[in-house]
This record gives sequence, structure tokens and C-alpha cells, in this order.
Amino acid sequence: MKEDKKIIFRPMRNDDIDSVMVIDRLSFSMPWPKSAYLHDLIDNPKAMLRVAEDISSDHEKDVVGMIDAWLILDEAHIATLAIHPDYRGHGIAKGLIELVLVEAHQMGATRVILEVRTSNLVAQGLYKQFGFEVVHRRRRYYVDNKEDALLMNLEHLDEWARTFQQVELPKIAS
Ligand SMILES: CC(C)(COP(=O)(O)OP(=O)(O)OC[C@H]1O[C@@H](n2cnc3c(N)ncnc32)[C@H](O)[C@@H]1OP(=O)(O)O)[C@@H](O)C(=O)NCCC(=O)NCCS
Repeated sequence: MKEDKKIIFRPMRNDDIDSVMVIDRLSFSMPWPKSAYLHDLIDNPKAMLRVAEDISSDHEKDVVGMIDAWLILDEAHIATLAIHPDYRGHGIAKGLIELVLVEAHQMGATRVILEVRTSNLVAQGLYKQFGFEVVHRRRRYYVDNKEDALLMNLEHLDEWARTFQQVELPKIAS
């Protein structure tokens, strides 16, 4: 990613799905089917889908990251998160998580959960920065390689929101 890029965060739209699918396939060994995104976008009022878009791109539209979180009663569940490989390491995932945590808190969530592969140390490091802790191990959770999932929990979202100060992200506008 060039240093002069400008990134914005916004709700996902139907016409983002193809770009989102590209990022999904580049990021996961078991990408979601298109129908899963369409379902959350159109039929699931509990889903919060947000994207990061590079508005300085020469292309008409350049979605470079996405997050999907489900709000179930007082609990938010981060269902997926991925950044295009060319755009990783610039704080974009941090920005998307911040956005979802703030919105989930405003909508009444008090805690947040997610699953992550035991081998995915980068994602675990990212979640720990927000205060997520490993609370459970789901044995052989992922069907492709029978890898365990770690269940991570941010137990006190209200506390996080009280102390939250937006991190200054160089070159990232939100
Ligand atoms: C995990 C992922 C979303 C991180 O996105 P990103 O935009 O590169 O992350 P950020 O730049 O916001 O980095 C935030 C933190 O993640 C961790 N991190 C990011 N890249 C890292 C790397 N290459 N090595 C180690 N830690 C790294 C660090 O803790 C970093 O914080 P720091 O910058 O203060 O050190 C991205 O690597 C990705 O899409 N991976 C494939 C999909 C995936 O694993 N999704 C999560 C499923 S649970």
C-alpha cells in the first residue's frame, strides 16, 4: 500500500460483494459462499457489515477490507474479518474492529466473542490489543484441517468503550 492512500470505513453494500469475495478467497482456506454475505446483507438485521475502501485508488471503487459482526441480544459476535494482502499492516483491521465495537456498544452489546484458529497468531495478537482473552478451546473445529479454534472474549465492552481513545492511524482517514 502506498503511503498516500486514503482509507474510509462505511457500511457494506450489495455491489461490494464481488470485491469482498476476492478478499475472502485470498484470506481464508474456507471462504464464505457469496450466499452467506448476501444473506447477512439483505436478510439478517442483526448483522453489521462494514468495509474499508481505498478512496484514493484509480479504480472506480476499491474495497480493501471487511468485517461482519452479529449482534445477538447483549452479545456481539465477530463472524469474519479480512484485509486484502496488499493493504495489511497499516491499521485497517484495527480501525474496522474499533468501528464495530463502538457501534455494538451503542446498540446495547456488553460483550464480544469470536473464534480464531490456534495457528493464527497475527489475528490473536490483534484481538489481544483490544483486551480479548482466550476463554475456551473448541477441539477440531475447522473441518478443512481439523484445527482447534480458540474462543476469545471481550467481557467488558462498556469498560472498553469508557477508556477507548481512537488510535491515530497515519494516512488513514475514517
Ligand atoms: C489478521 C488481519 C485481519 C490483520 O489485518 P491488518 O490490517 O494487517 O492488521 P493491522 O494493521 O490493523 O494490525 C493490527 C495488529 O495486528 C497484529 N499484526 C498485524 N500484522 C502482523 C504481522 N505481520 N505480524 C504480527 N502481528 C501482526 C499486530 O498486533 C498489529 O498491531 P501493531 O500494529 O500495533 O503491532 C489480516 O492479517 C488478515 O486479513 N488475515 C487473514 C484473515 C484473518 O486471519 N482474519 C482473522 C480471522 S479470526
